[in-house]
Amino acid sequence: MRVELLATPDCPHLEQAEEIARQALANNGHSPAIERVYVSDIDTAAGLGFHGSPTLRIDGRDIVPPLAGDGFHLGCRLYRQPDGSLDGVIPGTVIAAEVERREEEAAAREAAKFHPRALPAKLSRAFFLWASHRRFLGWLATAFPLTRRMVRRFVPGERLEDAMATLEGLQAAGMRWTVDVLGESVSSEAMATAAADRYIETLDALAQRGLEANVSVKLTQMGLAIDRDFCVANVRRIVDRARSVGAFVRIDMEDHTKTSKTLEIVRELHADYQGVGAVIQSYLRRSADDVAALNAEGIRVRLCKGAYDEPASVAFRTREEVDRSYVELMERLLTEGNYPGLATHDDRLIDHALAFVREHEIDPGRYEFQMLYGVRRDLHERLVALGQTVRVYVPYGSQWYPYYMRRLGERPQNVISILLSVLQEGRGTSGRQPGPCD
Ligand code: FDA
Repeated sequence: MRVELLATPDCPHLEQAEEIARQALANNGHSPAIERVYVSDIDTAAGLGFHGSPTLRIDGRDIVPPLAGDGFHLGCRLYRQPDGSLDGVIPGTVIAAEVERREEEAAAREAAKFHPRALPAKLSRAFFLWASHRRFLGWLATAFPLTRRMVRRFVPGERLEDAMATLEGLQAAGMRWTVDVLGESVSSEAMATAAADRYIETLDALAQRGLEANVSVKLTQMGLAIDRDFCVANVRRIVDRARSVGAFVRIDMEDHTKTSKTLEIVRELHADYQGVGAVIQSYLRRSADDVAALNAEGIRVRLCKGAYDEPASVAFRTREEVDRSYVELMERLLTEGNYPGLATHDDRLIDHALAFVREHEIDPGRYEFQMLYGVRRDLHERLVALGQTVRVYVPYGSQWYPYYMRRLGERPQNVISILLSVLQEGRGTSGRQPGPCD
């Protein structure tokens, strides 16, 4: 990401504009150098497309496109503020919204490259991740009985009872679990409050049945996008109930624009109750620093590769880089961390972990493997047979659409294999069980 702040040499708003831009970009997970470009004559202004001082350009494009008819000039440029007034600096919210809009646009362009006739060969991760944000597609998918049946592969059911039955099966197979009440990016306080209520209900049900109480929560489901304080108060209700039943609460990690806020909230909650942990994604460039800090603070970390479509400015984009980062972070967590959760189904990374703990004589009681419900069941069983702890991530609820699309994005061939097995069931044949690598 190339960020340029264009200004006249005597611009009184330059320092403040730079600080606001830095902060807004950091909140979106970017920390690029901000290049200052001074403009002192009208010819240069015209050449650079400069419509007054200061002007912020990202990747060569003005972050606030000038209105038609706005000419080039060397005077102050005024920006509309959230309260309706005019001021000489671009509001941070405008910068953040424009950066997000451009990232969405890039993801949509990527998705649009696919031609229907080229399916399924060209179904790609980017397509599913793009589709995971489309509410209309979500509505469509949930309305179709066929898709609802396909979802069963990764989501045992929509009701708490469905999840409980699954946990009892896992317990019998010697596994542990964390329960996710599906939902994210809620748009109202009422929805966020109801989601927290469902978590509390889940914790109570687990405790009543004598099942281990361990849940995974997304902050956007708790209202992070609506209001930070409201979100913290909401998630605190879950943490308070967790404390009273001796449960563990893992705060899931979402896309990079939420990383700083999420870790900040995890720290706040952990200061009051130690049974709160974080998630780190190995694809993020910042993760080595985050792991070092969380290890020093004794906060439990789940390490995963990362499930969102992130720009190269903040994330490694090749498999080799993401895996190399995973190995480095994993070794650090195993030697310095507090009971890390190694969340992956990647055979090579799991074999590396097993060799590393053997070599460093790390007891299996000091870490655990974590896997998703419905993914690589053969691995779950192999690790249990080796005396390793395996925790399965069990989601339930009606808001399964974005979660399901991310699972398809991780392995687009799933669409075909799941569809075939559902159709076979429909025709009354035995209904193939998902194979080990499905
Ligand atoms: P990789 O994608 O390379 O897959 C390795 C192998 O596993 C594949 O070759 C295939 O055999 C199998 N596999 C993987 N995904 C599959 C799928 N969907 N269907 C079928 N087979 C599949 N992410 C995030 O951003 N924030 C979070 O909070 C979490 N939380 C989380 C919890 C737990 C317990 C797990 C296991 C994962 C997460 N993730 C996550 C998701 C994670 O970031 C990642 O997207 C998936 O785990 C897939 O990455 P792998 O490490 O399995 O490797």
